[in-house]
Amino acid sequence: MPKRVFAPPEDGFPKRSRMDKFVIRGGAPLRGEIAVNGAKNSALPALAACLLTEEPVILHRIPDVRDIVTMETLLRSTGANVEVDGHTIRVEAREVVRPEAPYELVKTMRASSLVLGPLVARTGRARVSLPGGCAIGARPINLHLAGLEQLGARIRQEHGYIEAETPNGLHGALITFDRITVTGTEDLLMAAVLAEGETVIENAAQEPEVADLAELLTKMGAQIEGAGTSTIRVRGVPRLHGAEHTIIPDRIEAGTFLIAGAITRGDLLVTRCVPEHLSALISKLRQAGVRIEETGPDSLRVCAPGKLRSIDVTTEEYPGFATDLQAQYMALMTQAQGISLITETIFENRFMHALELMRMGANIRLEGRQAIVAGPSQLTGAAVIASDLRASASLVLAALVASGETVIDRVYHIDRGYEKIEERLQQVGASIRRIR
Ligand code: EPZ
Repeated sequence: MPKRVFAPPEDGFPKRSRMDKFVIRGGAPLRGEIAVNGAKNSALPALAACLLTEEPVILHRIPDVRDIVTMETLLRSTGANVEVDGHTIRVEAREVVRPEAPYELVKTMRASSLVLGPLVARTGRARVSLPGGCAIGARPINLHLAGLEQLGARIRQEHGYIEAETPNGLHGALITFDRITVTGTEDLLMAAVLAEGETVIENAAQEPEVADLAELLTKMGAQIEGAGTSTIRVRGVPRLHGAEHTIIPDRIEAGTFLIAGAITRGDLLVTRCVPEHLSALISKLRQAGVRIEETGPDSLRVCAPGKLRSIDVTTEEYPGFATDLQAQYMALMTQAQGISLITETIFENRFMHALELMRMGANIRLEGRQAIVAGPSQLTGAAVIASDLRASASLVLAALVASGETVIDRVYHIDRGYEKIEERLQQVGASIRRIR
């Protein structure tokens, strides 16, 4: 069995990786082929969905990243049997003995709240720690809770925990989200599949990961229509059965690699991706003068030989420009001619990477939800600190084009969502190594 990169976390962060750093020497164009892994943000709800049946569920193309290990640990703590073989995970929740998500796990991964809906639907109750703060924003789960109450759950909050119970089981409802929430849509979809009667979710998230979850649930026997659109209809069924499913490719990882090929002026083939999941990014990159060619149904070739143009971006829910690619795009715009305006509409504090980019020589001005980037700037290597998953990716991209050496601290943030990123970038010519 292939060696896992991370041992199951004691407190969420395996000690050795807490101190890890990346040392990157910039200037090398990335050339060659880089394959995209399965999507972390699809694997997480899929793993939570395994709690909905006592039969085994087999999931393929699960990335070996820290957030997945945290979710595996959480599933085991509920009583499920979890077997990992490389990128395949087999979950058998024959009996859910402890419908809980404890604080020590939730504090390291807020997506743990994805077990709330499945636990309530399967056992009639759940005790899930409130996620608490996060680097990129408050990120409350009030919309998850309001939807669960509409499905018949009684919700109490005490000692930092959500206590949910359904003495009479869940029943269908019309749920209209005040604002679009990805894991809120996924949480309630997983609750609704076992609720009695019909549930309609309006203003639902349309992310591909929602549609992927619905595909798994349908294989398990759920009756769902409209996943991937803003209105999802669910007809509840009494029980679900086991299934086997392969997770979709990670569009954020694929987008990160496209930007890596562009910012280093390389020539990169990004394979095993879904180009249509990246259409907003591809459109912006092409406007900026990046050449992107669809070389096959699941591969994109990126190169950027000429000058880059500054192009404004506003992050939006899918199919708009993904907030999870905003930090990476900002790194690219530091190399473009002129002024670009980057507006972040999803999270209230998602510009921390800008402060570190400025230390590398970027010319950025922050005004509330907007970042004004003037380029091109000759970035220089510096000692920088990663603050969250996608900010870390932005710093790696900047370091790949900066002159001299950059040391990025707290790379456990990047290990949450990118599997063996330094090895994969080395294989296409990057000068990057991990030091402990
Ligand atoms: C998912 O987070 C992703 N995580 C995030 O990716 C991604 O950035 C985000 O969607 C937006 O696309 C996973 O899928 C595991 P939201 P989620 O609920 O579901 C507010 C990464 O880098 N909101 O769509 O938590 C919220 O504060 C991560 O992989 C409420 O107010 O995001 C935010 O401003 C980072 N109340 C907005 O909605 C709620 O009950 C969108 O959040 C829920 C959300």
